[in-house]
Amino acid sequence: YPKAFIFDLDGVITDTSEFHYLAWKKLADEIGIKIDREFNEKLKGISRMESLDLILALSPSNNNLSADEKERLASKKNEHYQELIQSINATNILPGIEVLLKEIRRNNIKIALGSASKNATEVLKQLGITEYFDFVVDASTVTKGKPDPETFTTAADRLHIPYEACVGVEDAKAGVEAINKAEMFSVGVGEIKHLGDAKYVVQDTSELVFEEIVKRYNDWNL
Ligand code: BG6
Ligand code: MG
Repeated sequence: YPKAFIFDLDGVITDTSEFHYLAWKKLADEIGIKIDREFNEKLKGISRMESLDLILALSPSNNNLSADEKERLASKKNEHYQELIQSINATNILPGIEVLLKEIRRNNIKIALGSASKNATEVLKQLGITEYFDFVVDASTVTKGKPDPETFTTAADRLHIPYEACVGVEDAKAGVEAINKAEMFSVGVGEIKHLGDAKYVVQDTSELVFEEIVKRYNDWNL
């Protein structure tokens, strides 16, 4: 059995990745840049400022914005985002997730969150699932975001679990890369064309079944 599960938040535990996308789209509209869902795949899992840089790079006229101006745009996106997540609650937990968390707990396996979001703690609170997590890694905990492995290795270190005994669950390409670099067992949630590097890919969270993940983990760990 694995000894810890480390979950990404946005797009794995909850449907907030859609709200991140809508908030970025609104900001991009305001500054005259078009973004779509395909482009949004690149924004998944990376920090707020890195996302802004990728969006600004789409339009040469925004090439030399001052640091202050970029801060202002990033804050504005976060205001749009916070407005969208104002009313989230337990109904925003994705299918299968709470059953999975219970099953992991029942088997005395540790659970951590490994998120790039500064809003992670607040989102967990609103969903009402804070108590499942033995440790929360968010944007304030690490110096190098995904695809660097630091998010996942920090969680494992704090739980005192060896990396090869950890399962990481991600919906972002950058996140899967981070888990693989940490030499943990990576589970991808979403389309195989984005998550092909994951050791095990499921299409959506309803397919995240404890026994199946453990079976795949054991095969990998042989
Ligand atoms: C990640 C999301 O979890 O957090 C990204 O996948 C988001 O889309 C990033 O940009 C940072 O979130 P926040 O809440 O700090 O702006
Ligand atoms: Mg995610």
